[in-house]
Amino acid sequence: MKVSEAIIGQANGTDVVAYTLTNPNGISLTAMTYGATITELMMPDKNGKTENVILTMDSLDDYVTHRPYYGATIGRVAGRIAKGSFDLDGTTHQLVVNEGVNQLHGGPAGLDTHVWDAEIEASADEASIHFTTIDADGANGYPGNLSVTVSYTLTAENEWKVTYRATTDKATLFNPTNHVYFNLSGDINRPILQHNLQLNSAVFAELGDENLPTGALLPSEGTPFDFRSAGTLAVAAEQSHPQTQKVAGFDHPFLLQHDDGKPDAILSDVESGRSVKMYTDQDCVVIFMHNGSVDKYTISGSPVIQYAGITLETQALPDAINQEGFGDITLRPDEVYSAETIYKFEVQD
Ligand code: GAL
Repeated sequence: MKVSEAIIGQANGTDVVAYTLTNPNGISLTAMTYGATITELMMPDKNGKTENVILTMDSLDDYVTHRPYYGATIGRVAGRIAKGSFDLDGTTHQLVVNEGVNQLHGGPAGLDTHVWDAEIEASADEASIHFTTIDADGANGYPGNLSVTVSYTLTAENEWKVTYRATTDKATLFNPTNHVYFNLSGDINRPILQHNLQLNSAVFAELGDENLPTGALLPSEGTPFDFRSAGTLAVAAEQSHPQTQKVAGFDHPFLLQHDDGKPDAILSDVESGRSVKMYTDQDCVVIFMHNGSVDKYTISGSPVIQYAGITLETQALPDAINQEGFGDITLRPDEVYSAETIYKFEVQD
């Protein structure tokens, strides 16, 4: 495995370093200390052409100014918390909100805005970047000093492993994710609608006002949310269901069934032959399809098109702290949080 590093600028008054891990099969992963963000995933297509298969901003300043969440580590809590409010052990906590009255993706100074420390570990079979940060007691309104490690490992088997570890000194909430957007075509001007998705999930969470879950978990059978057999993402863009109409595609949590040995999700693009298999120990995956075009920033001189990429955000269900039956995202001082998601890249002729 090869590892290189470069200082790419400054954020929060600190140098930002980007590391590139390259495996013997020509796959390379670049990630930077700003937001513990993956900024490039280069892989060959079926003709041997190597391209970037994730959404990437042109510069560090673009990430800082526009906060697109592309490839970033999201936390403390991914998704929305209704009214930025929750009760824990009899105390009501008011978070700092950043999307109307709700909190999104950890608040205005979420983990994606930290400049993390980083250490490299490399062997013949794999290389890892271990990012660490401390989120101070009270940051974005959350209790407890939270100490977080996110490790990105690239293996000789063409896997990108994302592992999380966290501890706190007061009871708090923790439900992180990675907000990478895949576009396996290697061309971000080609929408992902012809990508095939297969998902080991039979239930999705209904969205209500302000894209918050209503609390209802609906069967996907007979709806455009059923990807137990592979199908193209175009079905979501057709907006034939009130829930896809609501957000112009998917922006939904899917509950994962976790059958032994089976990938939780497979995303593939026939034209390039590229695919990614996802394995996670998390309850759900939030799938967002970049449902709107964006013209407040450009990438390589062009506005970002609608459906430019698709996220596979593994996590516990959003707003779990305020919904019955959505799982427990509290982290207590005597506990160690740990989670793992693996994305395995493949090429078919
Ligand atoms: C997703 C979220 C979307 C949108 C996006 C960021 O995780 O579900 O509604 O906020 O992040 O642009």
